[in-house]
Amino acid sequence: MPILSIDGLEKIFSSANRKEKVLKGINLEITKGEITALTGASGSGKSTLLTIAAGLQKSTAGTIIFQNEALTDMNPRQVRAIRAKKFGFVFQHAHLVPFLTVQEQLELMMDTAELKWSKDRRNEEIKSILDLVDMWGHRDSYPGTLSGGGKQRVAIARAVVHKPEMLFADEPTASLDSKRSMEVMKLLRTLSRERNITVLMVTHEEETLEYADTIVQMKDGVIGKE
Ligand SMILES: Nc1ncnc2c1ncn2[C@@H]1O[C@H](COP(=O)(O)OP(=O)(O)OP(=O)(O)O)[C@@H](O)[C@H]1O
Ligand SMILES: [Mg+2]
Repeated sequence: MPILSIDGLEKIFSSANRKEKVLKGINLEITKGEITALTGASGSGKSTLLTIAAGLQKSTAGTIIFQNEALTDMNPRQVRAIRAKKFGFVFQHAHLVPFLTVQEQLELMMDTAELKWSKDRRNEEIKSILDLVDMWGHRDSYPGTLSGGGKQRVAIARAVVHKPEMLFADEPTASLDSKRSMEVMKLLRTLSRERNITVLMVTHEEETLEYADTIVQMKDGVIGKE
């Protein structure tokens, strides 16, 4: 049973004088606990597919089933609840809140997910994930004082501190050098293996693909054959 199934997904962007079909009937099954990497040329529709699968924008046609429920049939409030509780997000840049410490960034995420965890449980989860990303020593630091790789590791910790089912990552290594990119990929693999988090990611970089369990090649709005 896939954790996420995408069937006949289409997306058309319309403006006053033009219509562009960006996704042209995508069928894709994401296996639980795996890392699936979307790759392909710029403009092929990778980010559009990722953000629709994650409930961040709506499709024009097609269905998305997450854990036996059709995301595409839900009202906006239901989609927001799934996003907040079951999904985590990482992007090319860390997008940390400048005036919150590392620990406070994670607390904010737990509040958003409306977890009923005790204070002790919250602290344990924060310690556990910050240890994993090797940032516990920086828990009282503000983002401005962290390195690029450090910021991205905090962003990953923040994306999974509420124990989501799925992590959606759009080019999470694109702003990092090769060594830091590999560290981030190892981290994603640890999250998938040890915490059973299913990862759907977009990547341009060939060397990151070796960490993926499944590679999906996109070409001009369709999934191509490798
Ligand atoms: N909000 C939008 N409105 C109109 N067109 C859009 C919008 N978002 C994306 N597009 C168009 O859809 C196509 C696919 O974009 P998308 O961002 O999904 O590509 P991508 O594969 O992620 O590219 P990249 O590797 O450069 O990030 C592009 O032609 C883009 O211009
Ligand atoms: Mg993109």
